[in-house]
Amino acid sequence: MPFYIVILGPPGVGKGTQAKILSETNKLAHISSGDLFRENIKNQTELGILVRSFIDKGELVPDGVTIAMIKDRISRPDCEAGAIFDGFPRTPVQADALEKMLTEFKSQVDNVLYITAAESVLVERVSGRWTCRANGHVYHEKFSPPKETGKCDIDGSELYQRDDDKIETVARRIKVYLEQTAPLIDYYHQRGKLVEIDGTKPVEKVTELLLSALKK
Ligand code: AP5
Repeated sequence: MPFYIVILGPPGVGKGTQAKILSETNKLAHISSGDLFRENIKNQTELGILVRSFIDKGELVPDGVTIAMIKDRISRPDCEAGAIFDGFPRTPVQADALEKMLTEFKSQVDNVLYITAAESVLVERVSGRWTCRANGHVYHEKFSPPKETGKCDIDGSELYQRDDDKIETVARRIKVYLEQTAPLIDYYHQRGKLVEIDGTKPVEKVTELLLSALKK
């Protein structure tokens, strides 16, 4: 029976960092809607051209477009054992669509890990983030710096700062999160699936908390 985990939380709280670790330790596919969109933007696909303006403004990509992309992604062979969703769902419409998709696999969302941190922590994390151009590996200039400034430790590619990490766009992303995504906290709480995790701790400690929440 496949196993599906949703990681929920505001911009910059560490969803991607933790989803990557959990996908490696639990041998589950890591599905990041943000990474999928950025990949399409980089490759200038039709989808990338369509979504770019939403992402640059810190707005959500329309539900229909996002749901179609995720539906395609979860039907790939690497998702047979299940997946960790990072950044999806982001609206109640997306959450309903996910339940429907998983029903087709006779499955459901098993756990929702909700990572929290104060806005000042989010801003500090996002403004110090550097991402590798080739494969999206993530660093932080203070908390997890690369060995060599501006260069990825893993593949040697250039590190860049995301366009949507500009301070004014981050403020918009946080507002959009509070308005459109925070209702999912209640959505999953009512379904008995939500576990809240303190995301202000160091990366290793947050991983520990997430793993023990999963064991329960
Ligand atoms: P997306 O890429 O999903 O952005 P986000 O949700 O805003 O999240 P981030 O990627 O900014 O942060 P994160 O929580 O993954 O943190 P990270 O691990 O990198 O989406 C981008 C855009 O795409 C959206 O704004 C929207 O336009 C669109 N989009 C995406 N999904 C969508 C959907 N479902 N529907 C509609 N539109 C959608 O960590 C941040 C930094 O902190 C890093 O530098 C990291 O090294 C550091 N760090 C992490 N954890 C810790 C720790 N514990 N201690 C210290 N530093 C830490």
